[in-house]
Amino acid sequence: MNQDQLKQLVGQKAVEFVKDGMYVGLGTGSTVKFMVDALGERVQKEHLNIVGVSTSERTAAQAKSLGIPMKSVDDVDHLDLTIDGADEISADFQGVKGGGAALLWEKIVAINTDKVMWIVDESKMVDQLGAFGLPVEVIPYGSKHVFDKMAARGYNPVFRKVDGEFVRTDSNNYLIDLHINPITDPHALAEDLIHMVGVVEHGLFLDMVNTVIVGHENGPEVIQARP
Ligand code: A5P
Repeated sequence: MNQDQLKQLVGQKAVEFVKDGMYVGLGTGSTVKFMVDALGERVQKEHLNIVGVSTSERTAAQAKSLGIPMKSVDDVDHLDLTIDGADEISADFQGVKGGGAALLWEKIVAINTDKVMWIVDESKMVDQLGAFGLPVEVIPYGSKHVFDKMAARGYNPVFRKVDGEFVRTDSNNYLIDLHINPITDPHALAEDLIHMVGVVEHGLFLDMVNTVIVGHENGPEVIQARP
């Protein structure tokens, strides 16, 4: 099985956990894309009655095109389940997210959700976080100074650019990817980053995930990370 097939496998497995009447957070990324396809199929074929809340403009457009009823995060009291991808998951189930530039909305949706599920192919499971650059969303104004302060702390920052242009998030901010490998104390790093003026949010998703579905050659593995 190639990586896309593993992603599809976990996407299809994840939607088995979606029940009638749920408010469901829809993550962002290539793995989630398969999940949203599978969810759209359940909505169309089984007339599953759910409301989706998207973590990006991309996912919202896909979900709407499949006929999944959608609401904005501010129009719901809470969400029952959020299904999202991840860039890295450590052995103690801490995560790095934001490779797809959607970390801010993803975190807002996740913290307002009863149960958070991450779906990944097995390459995302690591002992310690850090091999994947840690995305940090920053306000464009003054971002050069935030960047310099990160460099001074030894975080090896790199502005995310495509064709020489700054990547903009759905909130119109910039992203700085930090290269700290390994991240030995994610909680201390998270604490430091969130107190830097100009940082909007970082891609460390700590003590947050309840269920992880990992795609292996021999099938999906469902892991209960936290109650
Ligand atoms: C989006 O910003 C990310 O947090 C994604 O959830 C993460 O990058 C996983 O994406 P893939 O499923 O495309 O690897």
